[in-house]
Amino acid sequence: MMLNIVLPLLLSLLLTSAAAVQQWTFVQNGTSGIVAIEAIVVSPTLVLMYDRADGNPLLLPNGARAWAALWDLEKNVATPLETLTNTFCAGGGFISNGTLVAVAGQPREDPYQPPADGRMGIRLFDPCTSPGGVNCTVFEDPANVHLAELRWYPTGLRIPDGSLMVIGGSHSNTFYNTDAANSIEFFPGRAGEAGTVRPSKFLLDAEPVNMFPRSFVLPSGNVFIVANNLTMIYNIATGTETRLPDIPNGVHVTNPFDGTAQLLPLSPPLYEPSVLVCGGSATDPRIPEANLSTQDPASDQCSRITLTPLGVARGWEVERMPETRVLLESVLLPTGDLLLINGAQTGYGGYPSIRGTNATGMSNSDHPARRALLYKTDAPRGARISHEGLPESDIARMYHSSAVLTPQGNIMVAGSNPHATVVPASESQFPTEFRVEYLNPEFITANAPRPAIISAPAQILFNQRATLRVNIPADLHGAPTKVSLMDLGFATHSFHANSRLVFLEHTLRGSGSDTMLELEITAPPNNNVYPPGPAFVFLVGGEVYSQAVKVMVGDGGNPPRPDQGVRMPVSSV
Ligand SMILES: *[C@@H]1O[C@H](CO)[C@@H](O)[C@H](O)[C@H]1NC(C)=O
Ligand SMILES: *[C@@H]1O[C@H](CO)[C@@H](O)[C@H](O)[C@H]1NC(C)=O
Ligand SMILES: *[C@@H]1O[C@H](CO)[C@@H](O)[C@H](O)[C@H]1NC(C)=O
Ligand SMILES: *[C@@H]1O[C@H](CO)[C@@H](O)[C@H](O)[C@H]1NC(C)=O
Ligand SMILES: *[C@@H]1O[C@H](CO)[C@@H](O)[C@H](O)[C@H]1NC(C)=O
Ligand SMILES: *[C@@H]1O[C@H](CO)[C@@H](O)[C@H](O)[C@H]1NC(C)=O
Repeated sequence: MMLNIVLPLLLSLLLTSAAAVQQWTFVQNGTSGIVAIEAIVVSPTLVLMYDRADGNPLLLPNGARAWAALWDLEKNVATPLETLTNTFCAGGGFISNGTLVAVAGQPREDPYQPPADGRMGIRLFDPCTSPGGVNCTVFEDPANVHLAELRWYPTGLRIPDGSLMVIGGSHSNTFYNTDAANSIEFFPGRAGEAGTVRPSKFLLDAEPVNMFPRSFVLPSGNVFIVANNLTMIYNIATGTETRLPDIPNGVHVTNPFDGTAQLLPLSPPLYEPSVLVCGGSATDPRIPEANLSTQDPASDQCSRITLTPLGVARGWEVERMPETRVLLESVLLPTGDLLLINGAQTGYGGYPSIRGTNATGMSNSDHPARRALLYKTDAPRGARISHEGLPESDIARMYHSSAVLTPQGNIMVAGSNPHATVVPASESQFPTEFRVEYLNPEFITANAPRPAIISAPAQILFNQRATLRVNIPADLHGAPTKVSLMDLGFATHSFHANSRLVFLEHTLRGSGSDTMLELEITAPPNNNVYPPGPAFVFLVGGEVYSQAVKVMVGDGGNPPRPDQGVRMPVSSV
């Protein structure tokens, strides 16, 4: 009798919870022709990729090997792009007028000989819509438009005035950063500071594991920076550095011990920021490079801190991933959850340089982490991270791989090259990887009905309302809706600089049976919550989300822009 009641109940509970786990699927399609070391979504259908000048199969019209390309998300083909400087190991982001700025890079290299050293390089790209079409070119003027200091492995961060803050790096290609560029500069140069840099004591203290500093603009307008196992708040106006708590348990998270880091979604009305840091390595960086092993376990630690006075007083809270992971990427989803993808379970970043990696085809890392993890941002601590529903990839994606959320709503995964040159599969367990694949959420694989944004204004001004026309399929009526305003980031080296999600206040108008609804949104309150520049907007219904539309947030003018929108009581450090 009891069983008769309990069993069906149990079964239905099991079925409900099984149905609630979304199944993801990998689909391979096309080859990128260059290694997607840097991957940036520049338009609804195009991803810009930068690599080094090497033995890439993708050729420029003049027959030379390409080291930059535009990937077409619809046709799954790469079109080569010409660049003057060596783009390898650059950082960057969009600025307030919508131009993508890539900064720094690699010295000139033989035998491939890109015409110019890339370390002071500034490359401008104005998003275009069709490869080979108008303005689909990289603009460079290295003699006149360049950085003030040589940099390799710096971060580029769009700040509240819409310009790019260029943070750290090295003067030369190193494993440990022993030739560091421990300074900060801006593009365009700030008034009275053009052609100069600001020295950073924090970056100096973070040597020698301080490359690609993980950096975030907070709603206070300050910048939070993680380098090595150290953290700080940087005040842009005064240049003041204020140290915050170290990452716990001696875990180091910047290159060459790459963990990933992400600003979690900002929600109205308070927009309280939290930062998540996952993976990396607890190896003591005083151990010489030659004594490190590819078999050293990475860290399984995820650490999260809320950057309010109270949150800082509470400090970092620690969780564990089901496996150790280095060289992983974090990809923010429109739902506010994250995918942690790519990487390896043991070893380090960099090219073969550590113990036992002296033969062709060897790698500084080993044991590829083939299965992505879903991080549920709002779940209780201890129940946030899981492999459930996520498949293993056939492809090892280790050093110099990337992953980006596309405007279509799936995740493009590309690259991997733990070698200094192009190494084929016949010569390495972990070859240079040109295959592109997509990780599709179940609703894309199943072609299930999705919310759709039918029309949206091209520009939204801070703290102003705007109206979108949308369609929400009948199955999703009643599901909680979210409107996600996102910068999809500049993905490289386990950090997606500028990646950001702001949930917008919104009201849906129209009856449940309408197929065409009006969605009134309110833009972010000001330029600290979302630094002015381009964004993609997704409409989320339950766990299902629309394709994105691109909008300009703010007045779209050249940097520096004045403060825009309404000031709020500051809720962050
Ligand atoms: C690969 O992409 C092409 C171009 O969009 C498409 O026609 C083809 O169906 C895709 N193949 C798979 C396996 O998805
Ligand atoms: C192409 O770039 C030029 C110079 O930056 C600009 O004046 C022009 O408007 C751009 N064209 C398009 C179609 O965006
Ligand atoms: C940060 O790293 C340094 C050097 O490895 C170490 O001395 C220090 O204890 C670490 N901090 C924490 C909180 O583990
Ligand atoms: C590094 O390896 C060398 C050679 O095996 C050894 O003599 C030395 O003690 C090691 N140093 C450290 C710090 O582990
Ligand atoms: C590579 O290193 C190993 C020890 O780690 C050594 O036994 C071997 O001789 C080295 N090979 C070459 C080609 O240097
Ligand atoms: C955007 O601003 C930068 C910096 O001032 C400038 O170099 C670039 O030409 C601008 N882009 C456009 C499209 O005007």
